[in-house]
Amino acid sequence: MHHKTATRTAREPAPETKGRTIRWARLYDFATTFLSFGRAGALRRTTIDLAQPASGEKVLDVGCGPGTLALAAKERVGPGGEVHGIDAAPEMIALAREKAAKTGATVDFQVALIERLPFPDDHFDLVTSTLMFHHLPGDLKRAGLAEIRRVLKPGGRLLVVDFAAHAESGLGHLLAVFGLSKDRSGVDPMRKLLQEARFANVEVLETKQQQMAFMRAWKG
Ligand SMILES: C[S@@+](CC[C@H](N)C(=O)[O-])C[C@H]1O[C@@H](n2cnc3c(N)ncnc32)[C@H](O)[C@@H]1O
Repeated sequence: MHHKTATRTAREPAPETKGRTIRWARLYDFATTFLSFGRAGALRRTTIDLAQPASGEKVLDVGCGPGTLALAAKERVGPGGEVHGIDAAPEMIALAREKAAKTGATVDFQVALIERLPFPDDHFDLVTSTLMFHHLPGDLKRAGLAEIRRVLKPGGRLLVVDFAAHAESGLGHLLAVFGLSKDRSGVDPMRKLLQEARFANVEVLETKQQQMAFMRAWKG
């Protein structure tokens, strides 16, 4: 028997979604860790600073990719808190679970969709989502925001981080990734979507990262 084959866990099937999934999890993780010239690290640190996961809180990261932000949130909420990460790509979740096992962190990573969150109503203090919304068509953005609002506790908060520019074109995407774009035309449509989804006090937060939009909103 080959030891490697015996210990490898079977990969879960990928659920069907109209969102753009990323199946090349290891390359994505490598690129965001080593090829982003420190930008990805700075983005995570700013996200955590603005989201402020507090000791004992319940946190969900939606579209968590390889789990970096969820693992950082777990350090903040401590053993009395609870952190979950979901992603549509089984490869991302497998890698996130591997990282959690390596560090001994108890974070629950699940293959799941933003449009059908597997959590009860009014459960989370904080939901985060980074670089994910531009992967969703308009109707899924609306369905996803409704789901996030459902699983947030009353008074709970959402932090959405995404390219400030419309990131549909390949060139626009690249310019935004390398911080070369001054285009912030994606901010107003996202603010409108958050307001239409009945989030209160929608704020666009000022940061040094002009190419990114950091938006915070509350379940009133
Ligand atoms: C660019 S990655 C961002 C990953 C991570 N949040 C980060 O900041 O590095 C976008 C992620 O959204 C996931 N995704 C796409 N459609 C989705 C859906 N409908 N539900 C949940 N995740 C989805 C992709 O598989 C991918 O891992």
